[in-house]
Amino acid sequence: MQFPRTPHILLVDDEERNLTLLEGLLRPQGYHMSRARDGEAALRIAAAEGPDCILLDVMLPGLDGFTVCRRLKADPATTAVPVIMVTALQEREDRARGLEAGADDFLSKPVNMHELRARIRSLLRLRFLHEELAERLRQLAAAEALKEQLTHLLIHDLNGPLSALKVNLSILLAGLEGPLRPPQEGILTSALANAEHLARLIRTLLDIARLEEGRLPVKREPVSLRALAAAACAEQEPAFRTKRVTLEVAVPADLPPVVGDEDLLGRTVDNLLRNALQFTPPGGRVTVSARAEAGGVTLMVRDTGEGIPAAFREKVFDKFAQVEVRAHGRRQGTGLGLTFCRLAVEAHEGRIWVESEEGRGSCFSVALACASEGADG
Ligand SMILES: Nc1ncnc2c1ncn2[C@@H]1O[C@H](COP(=O)(O)OP(=O)(O)OP(=O)(O)O)[C@@H](O)[C@H]1O
Ligand SMILES: [Mg+2]
Repeated sequence: MQFPRTPHILLVDDEERNLTLLEGLLRPQGYHMSRARDGEAALRIAAAEGPDCILLDVMLPGLDGFTVCRRLKADPATTAVPVIMVTALQEREDRARGLEAGADDFLSKPVNMHELRARIRSLLRLRFLHEELAERLRQLAAAEALKEQLTHLLIHDLNGPLSALKVNLSILLAGLEGPLRPPQEGILTSALANAEHLARLIRTLLDIARLEEGRLPVKREPVSLRALAAAACAEQEPAFRTKRVTLEVAVPADLPPVVGDEDLLGRTVDNLLRNALQFTPPGGRVTVSARAEAGGVTLMVRDTGEGIPAAFREKVFDKFAQVEVRAHGRRQGTGLGLTFCRLAVEAHEGRIWVESEEGRGSCFSVALACASEGADG
């Protein structure tokens, strides 16, 4: 292996003769070498020069080799520098102590040239790989942080102009600037729908980021899922009619309220209903139902659509996840709707899951705690 720079070896031994011998054995390798005659000097030079490998004699005056090794490994600046301990005494005992002190390898005296060179080379290889990995990780973390920052910035900056756009389109559509001819009305309606879609997407992105960081305040109020379902159905009913998908609501009138955040739960139901419509072909049927259970309520959105292959039933809740077999075609959504639903439901300590049969349809269920049970939670 070609090393990325000339390796620097620190030799620690109290006997001049040994140091000269080691240097002689290693010189043909082309290493840069430093010497230390005792433990204090070894620590000082290691800190100042940052060697790539340390050959450390166990028997030293003052601080012994074990202590030096322990200190090197305890210091973040030198902890990654490999240490080879050179032992002469009862080997087994010495090696056990050396391992405890954090030594990376051992050599026994008298030192064998081939063994010495091989051990150093293999530790240097590790040392440089470790360095490269650390550098890549640093770069990756920096890029990741920058990406996050940019995304946040972008999302925030998109919101302002988009709100202005929506207001202006609404003014024109309302005929406040004069009567509209039908084609103009159609164009404006479509433009407004697109602006609203964008606004929803931006809001979902922001909320997912906040929910993931636990920064989104979640209200704990009694919420009627029956009312939420009715509102979502009323809003989307025209789209169902256009696509010729039957929409049915079967929520009992005496359904007890759950505890939670009306806005978050409302958007959860809204997302589930949108998906059901999107993935159900014309002529199909979507049913929103609910039932009370011990201490909670389960809401279900069932469709007679294309279903979800088993391999995707857990994945669809992941960020940007879409059923791949369909991704060949035109990508319609963003793959964030269900991520939002899962995070929102989990912020309520609730549960969301899907049952599905390919070609037959899917049923998404959301289980939440009831007001009487979790009111103090
Ligand atoms: N009712 C459903 N029937 C079949 N597949 C579904 C259904 N709901 C979701 N899926 C699959 O799960 C994927 C993820 O859904 P999700 O709502 O997270 O994203 P999306 O609808 O693709 O985009 P958006 O972010 O606009 O909601 C969908 O792309 C689709 O493949
Ligand atoms: Mg969706």
